[in-house]
Amino acid sequence: MIELKTETELAAMRQAGRVVAQVLAAVRERAEVGMRLRELDELASEVIAKAGASPSFLGYHPSWAPTPYPGAICASVNDAVVHAPPNGYRLRPGDLLSVDCAAKLDGWHGDAAVSFVVGPADQADPADLTLIAQTERALAAGIAAIRPGGRMGDISQAIGQVAAEGGYGQPDDVGGHGIGREMHEMPHLANEGRAGRGIRLHPGLVLAIEPMLMAGGHRTRTGADGWTLYTKDGARAAHAEHTVAITKDGPRVLTLP
Ligand code: MF3
Ligand code: CO
Repeated sequence: MIELKTETELAAMRQAGRVVAQVLAAVRERAEVGMRLRELDELASEVIAKAGASPSFLGYHPSWAPTPYPGAICASVNDAVVHAPPNGYRLRPGDLLSVDCAAKLDGWHGDAAVSFVVGPADQADPADLTLIAQTERALAAGIAAIRPGGRMGDISQAIGQVAAEGGYGQPDDVGGHGIGREMHEMPHLANEGRAGRGIRLHPGLVLAIEPMLMAGGHRTRTGADGWTLYTKDGARAAHAEHTVAITKDGPRVLTLP
């Protein structure tokens, strides 16, 4: 069942999306060398609580996971692609950090992610900056492919094309999703596919669009924590995500600042 949202509901979802944008901005600003991932999670929890919202990830327990999710953010470093629970790791210069967060406000969820390199700019590996830029391009291309009355495959193909053009791998089996009163709703959004195929993009459909690009192959492995998805070959990965509504005028990004 795919839930289409009314304009009033989209306005409420925009408020949830704004909270997520605030969290990501705050975490990015504080993600300095020596900071522990767990401290970033505490910061995120504070920003969410101050906004009167609640962390969507905390306690989330999909059937494939061994434990309920233990944090408000995912903090995926270097070869971690997504879903990394924040732990005691201290950030180091040149780390590629992907931060993913979702928050629920007045019954509606927003979900977004950003990736960046930690520490002095001259210690960033240029290859990481290129990977991040291409991941952001994939997200932008996915959003730009949205036409009301178009199809899910339009978005999937646009994302997959940008990943392939960069020579990057994408994990199998993970992708974007519908979002609304639940963080994960129908439909699933594949990060590669064929334009013109799939479910129609009706106004009121809201999607979390989230390309994950890997500077290597497409294979992944799950870490010992049962949650973190790593690249199998140890290559670095980046993640970018926005919650996007389809409207009669085109895409509307709900997780901008
Ligand atoms: N944005 C990711 C997703 O939709 C985040 C999920 S993290 C989890 O899959 F902790 F909630 F699993
Ligand atoms: Co998501």
